[in-house]
Amino acid sequence: MKTLAIDTSCDETSASVVDDLTVLSNVQPSQMEYHRKYGGIVPSLARLAHTERIDNVVTEALKLAQTKLSDLDAIAVTTGPGLAIALEVGIKKAKQLSKELQLPLYPINHMEGHLLSGFAQPNRATNLREDLTLIKRISNNAQYPILGVLVSGKHTEFIKVESFGEYAVIGETLDDACGEAFDKAGRMLGLGYPGGPIIAEFAESHRKQMKISIENRNQSSYVIGENKKTGVSYELPIAMAKSNDLNVSYSGLKTAFKQLIESVIKNDGLTKTQVLDLSVMFEQAAFAPICIKLKKAIQEFSPKEIWLGGGVVANNELKRNIRKIARAKNIELEYPRSKKLTTDNAAMIAMVANLRKSILNESGLLDAEKIDLIDRIPRQKLGRDY
Ligand code: KG4
Ligand code: ZN
Repeated sequence: MKTLAIDTSCDETSASVVDDLTVLSNVQPSQMEYHRKYGGIVPSLARLAHTERIDNVVTEALKLAQTKLSDLDAIAVTTGPGLAIALEVGIKKAKQLSKELQLPLYPINHMEGHLLSGFAQPNRATNLREDLTLIKRISNNAQYPILGVLVSGKHTEFIKVESFGEYAVIGETLDDACGEAFDKAGRMLGLGYPGGPIIAEFAESHRKQMKISIENRNQSSYVIGENKKTGVSYELPIAMAKSNDLNVSYSGLKTAFKQLIESVIKNDGLTKTQVLDLSVMFEQAAFAPICIKLKKAIQEFSPKEIWLGGGVVANNELKRNIRKIARAKNIELEYPRSKKLTTDNAAMIAMVANLRKSILNESGLLDAEKIDLIDRIPRQKLGRDY
């Protein structure tokens, strides 16, 4: 099945053509120049940029995929979660295409896209797996339950996948999402927006200069770091490390990080070494709760597979940590095979529509107007709106 999908859930205007699981095109021009000067995403600007770009992005996706409109089997669109006024732009375009081309329209949950993004096959990858083998694997009920780990700018969730299409959130952040916390920490360090990738780059270049350990004191856990050259040491709390559930929290880390910066800052600001030290510290303290709760979830229901997705998965340290945990328990790990499939993209949306057709035999909406009647979060238990 060849599907054209659109995702305008947040700040990427993305369109993509996917044939079964093979990504023929995935267009996602960045809107960052619109939002950077405001230090975050401005919903009205996101809508404006989506409206300006949507037609060209769809045309470009078809061109790159060398696909004519008449070759398409379906249209898919993200219906939530996301910014309502941004989502509407993509939904309007998808409805128009579905009606004009008389093609079924698949409303898709953005988080289901991230969850399955590890199965999208980049067209030009050399180590391509067989689409059909993968589809058979996903539809094989013996593999379930599977553990989903979603770490993005707006969500941090553990999902129990009971079977393909049946999801339950078994743990989530009680306040900020992990990516959001990275961006706020980046702002505190004066690194601009979005801070996540910059902190990651600094931490990656500097990690070997730091000695990192975890310390348990009373009912709390801490990340302790020491710069091997300067001998300066730092401490940050690991939120909810001892809580009896699978939830995480980032608000305490945010406050502690602000206090830590204030305690080391000199009159003339932070030194380059301090920014690097603090980047390593923040990254470790942000990922520690995810790793702790991941181990707990594994202990609770012994999944055979982990599916990892969301923008923060672009982070190598997170992938390394999770790979280590999965390997130690002999658990198969799936995660997006390129950065373009990690951040928000329409390819994952098209792929979910294709999987829903082939595994669940869902036919999509034949009357595109019905999409307005659909809950913005069709899979109620997957991802909260924001
Ligand atoms: O999934 P995504 O593209 O958008 C949402 O659906 O939220 O995730 C974007 C988030 C941003 O907060 C960004 O700072 C973060 O992912 N991010 C990273 C890295 N790359 C992107 N966070 C940490 N390390 C990275 N390498
Ligand atoms: Zn996303």
